[in-house]
Amino acid sequence: MKVFVTRRIHELGVKIMKNSGIDVTQWMEKRDLTQSELIEHCKQHNALLSVGANRINARFLDECSHLKVIALLSVGFDNVDVDQATRLKIPVGNTPGVLSDATADAAFLLMLATSRKAFYHHKRIINGNWAFFDPMADLGIDLKDRTLGIYGLGRVGFEMAKRCLGAFNMKVIYCNRHPNEAAEKELHANPVSFDELLAQSDVLSVHANLTSETREKFDKRAFSKMKSNSIFVNAARGELHNEQDLTEALSRGIIWGAGLDVTNPEPMRPDNPLLSMPNVCVLPHIGSATLETRIAMSKLAAENIVAGLKGERLPYVVNPEVYKK
Ligand code: DGY
Repeated sequence: MKVFVTRRIHELGVKIMKNSGIDVTQWMEKRDLTQSELIEHCKQHNALLSVGANRINARFLDECSHLKVIALLSVGFDNVDVDQATRLKIPVGNTPGVLSDATADAAFLLMLATSRKAFYHHKRIINGNWAFFDPMADLGIDLKDRTLGIYGLGRVGFEMAKRCLGAFNMKVIYCNRHPNEAAEKELHANPVSFDELLAQSDVLSVHANLTSETREKFDKRAFSKMKSNSIFVNAARGELHNEQDLTEALSRGIIWGAGLDVTNPEPMRPDNPLLSMPNVCVLPHIGSATLETRIAMSKLAAENIVAGLKGERLPYVVNPEVYKK
């Protein structure tokens, strides 16, 4: 049995697969595969371990319907046409849980860095502008006792809320499709409507999955309902916000700041106006990028491949419907 891996991953995952007798091919070039290249490689393999935003759409799946399993090195699976994979009886696996802490840390970092204009001040030093002390210039805002609004309170949102409550005694409100009882009990989180979330949040942190319902949910209309001293944080998927509308909301002072680990589109161009705004901090989608987390992700993805190639149920499956008789 042979698996094609679209990037270099941590060796633990490779070892797990090799120890199960699987032949592992890793794509080592530092460029994205085209979809045609990906299809060609997959045609010669029984399984795919997909890293990054490869488009696993209907065209790909129809051409590669022989695959016994597709394992993602991510918790998000918005790059996969899951319905089509299910129709073709291909199990799709992801890596839930193991990246919640690291991703929440990144969201927390962005919130705090934005509130103090940290990236801008760092650039001031590099540019030789740390000369004169003006006690009223480039001030940040305090986070203590503010209201944190979470859009999509799942595992990562829970960890973000926990950090904000512990560090800044922030009041937590959230907007979800389903109530999160653990968050209500442990973090005293209050469910609110989407419009209430917009109107009441001092920091609005986005942690939802990207779906047709959530795509560009944060647009001109949404930003116009937020507080003028609020901070928008997105460490989930860039396509949850409309970046043009966000840029306008920031430059017109409709909202105060933004911390982004994800952009729309990715990668962000170096001349993007957001990068020169003092009250904006941007990271290049590094939410899960800690060594410990990447090791754990590589292990889970490898376990999905091993199970799938043995014809067993994937331990972390996105489309359990494939196992229905
Ligand atoms: C995820 O797991 O979905 C993260 O965005 C990985 O990059």
